[in-house]
Amino acid sequence: TKPLTITDLQSMKQRGEKISCLTAYDASFSALLDKAGIDILLVGDSLGMVIQGQSTTVPTSIEDMVYHAACVVRGRQRAFVIADMPFMSYAGKEQAAENAARLMQTGGVQMVKLEGPKIELIEFLSENGVPVCGHLGLLPQSINRLGGYKIQGRERSAADQMIADACRLEKAGAALLVLECVPAILAEEIARQLTIPVIGIGAGADCDGQVLVLYDILDIGIAKRPRFSKNFMQDASSIEMAIKNFHEAVKQGTFPSEEHSFQ
Ligand code: KIV
Ligand code: NA
Repeated sequence: TKPLTITDLQSMKQRGEKISCLTAYDASFSALLDKAGIDILLVGDSLGMVIQGQSTTVPTSIEDMVYHAACVVRGRQRAFVIADMPFMSYAGKEQAAENAARLMQTGGVQMVKLEGPKIELIEFLSENGVPVCGHLGLLPQSINRLGGYKIQGRERSAADQMIADACRLEKAGAALLVLECVPAILAEEIARQLTIPVIGIGAGADCDGQVLVLYDILDIGIAKRPRFSKNFMQDASSIEMAIKNFHEAVKQGTFPSEEHSFQ
């Protein structure tokens, strides 16, 4: 089997098939997730928290990202693999190009993700053949500026700004968008306006796909599980079954329910 391509993900959106995504950091879980049919494996900079025990994603380095990306890529056969550009690895164009190249050439990933409406940067990377996934809403790398992990886009002006940013991002060449911690109705509006797939986390059921942190759904996280996430081990007798149940729940649109969304 060949890995899924961006074209495959695009046609999933077009035919209304939900996209399942989980974070992965090593080859063993990568293979397991792949076997369960998970469409996208995200090598998240959340690895700084769940693997390394840091309290935020700010200390995660590009070296760490490249190492874990390579592990995940070795473990999968079918899944599409995305890696996060970590904090301060894309402050300038040249630096971003260099680090995206490391993730793609040494890490072997198919796409890089970066936080915020970095329109010119996304245009620059896309023009140079780097597929980019945007990330709007709650931006964990900016946690020290935000002062806390809270829902984004509640006020009308912030919601309008997010819609505008999402459109600019798509125009700039972003091929995918992650929306984190936003009201379900706002995420639905953005997913409807964009032609690229929108993957939600704490963004309601009307996104084109769903992503969660693997260790949260397996109930092995160090930190408290966020309200929008769910312990899939509760009704499963094995890790494989928990992952399969997440995958099916996303495909059938039964996750997230209201309880795991923001109104
Ligand atoms: O780093 C991460 O795990 C992420 C997802 C939760 C979207 O960026
Ligand atoms: Na991340």
